[in-house]
Amino acid sequence: MRIEIPREVERFGPVQIHDVQKVWELDAGLKLKELEPKEKERRVITRISYESLQDIQEQMAIVVPIKDEKIKLLEGVLAGIPHECLVILVSNSKREPVDRYKIEMDALNHMSKFMKKDIFIAHQKDPLLAQACKDAGYEYILDDKGEVRSGKAEGMILSTILAYLCGKKYIGFIDSDNYFPGAVYEYVQEYSAALYSAKSDYSMVRIAWHSKPKIVESSLFFAKRGRASEHTNKVLNMLMSSYTGYGTEIIKTGNAGEHAMSMDLALNIDYSSGYSIEPYHYINVLERFGGVIDSPSADVMKQGIQFFQIESRNPHLHEVKGDEHVKSMSREAMEVIYRSPLCPDHLKQEILIDLYNRGLLKEGEEMPETVRYYPALTKVNMLKFKQALAKASFAEFLKADLSKYKHKNGKKKLARETVKSKDHLPDPHEQLEIK
Ligand code: GDP
Ligand code: CO
Repeated sequence: MRIEIPREVERFGPVQIHDVQKVWELDAGLKLKELEPKEKERRVITRISYESLQDIQEQMAIVVPIKDEKIKLLEGVLAGIPHECLVILVSNSKREPVDRYKIEMDALNHMSKFMKKDIFIAHQKDPLLAQACKDAGYEYILDDKGEVRSGKAEGMILSTILAYLCGKKYIGFIDSDNYFPGAVYEYVQEYSAALYSAKSDYSMVRIAWHSKPKIVESSLFFAKRGRASEHTNKVLNMLMSSYTGYGTEIIKTGNAGEHAMSMDLALNIDYSSGYSIEPYHYINVLERFGGVIDSPSADVMKQGIQFFQIESRNPHLHEVKGDEHVKSMSREAMEVIYRSPLCPDHLKQEILIDLYNRGLLKEGEEMPETVRYYPALTKVNMLKFKQALAKASFAEFLKADLSKYKHKNGKKKLARETVKSKDHLPDPHEQLEIK
């Protein structure tokens, strides 16, 4: 892959957010050629050889969350994931009246006769997983009935623990409703390219898809950004600039469902529920490590956190889930920004006005509390989680070497609990000191 280096970087304490990077060649050849001297002159472009991408993929789990999607779509998605990645399908599909999960398992069995992949499937409501959460001291994602809650985020959290137990160093997410296997393949290559280039062990890459095809007046139109994204990005950027004192448009992937990160980062951030999980990555990293609030871990602060945003070449086409879906997703995204202890009052006002204008809240209505927050996975006792899954159908995949693992029941509380009042915050208009 040949990729341009980021033109801009926005800093927020030790957090670096890199500008969108453009891909110039999807495949840039084998490693041997890396020695060509003329390559060195073109420093604005990085060439990442096929072997280097593969090295990363051998250490990467790709999680595919699925809820009642068409099996044909899933089949395409699985076909697109590069061979070296371990695939974890986490399903919350209906079991009644039609057992859609069983259909998924059958389809997977059938497909695996033809495709050679390391792959397993787990159901989010499997009592074994709920038991594992209990045993491991991570009951936060369980509901009153003791089952894992529904929601994409909850599925992602479970699969992050599973990926850790499989011994993976990186974790990437690919939605199961993507129409183009070629796009899926490209996203994983881009995850690998960015994580290969990362200088910090705490890194995340997010896809800014190039375009989204739509039919407008009976011809194809390639829209640049989704409807919800524009608003989320704008507000996230306003939040950044209220601390740095400079206007910015750096964040272009506020709602990116397609993203990957190092396991070190995945274990060290808090999560929020449902579809708010993606914008909350930015918020939580800024809260925990931005240096404004909280007492973050020394190693993360020293190495810094790097966000990469890569513009994919394939158009992005997924299932149309309707207006209501986009609305609730957008409202949840706004809610996590609004609730952040970092969010200054003037931005809260702007968020409310924006929601009123778009009809997502009634005029004068307060921000409803719909989003839940989950603490970082350092709270999970991984040994106990693994023990509880000894009889799971996928137990053979959980082969991480835990011989040196020590559970430190992190005393760290959620960032929002540590801030008792706004008084703990510096004046948001004061420029943040860059360490
Ligand atoms: P959008 O693409 O962000 O508009 O949202 P989608 O509704 O397409 O959801 C993204 C992905 O998450 C899809 O692959 C869904 O099948 C999957 N998904 C949605 N809800 C859940 C859930 O409760 N649990 C799991 N495991 N996956 C879910
Ligand atoms: Co979708």
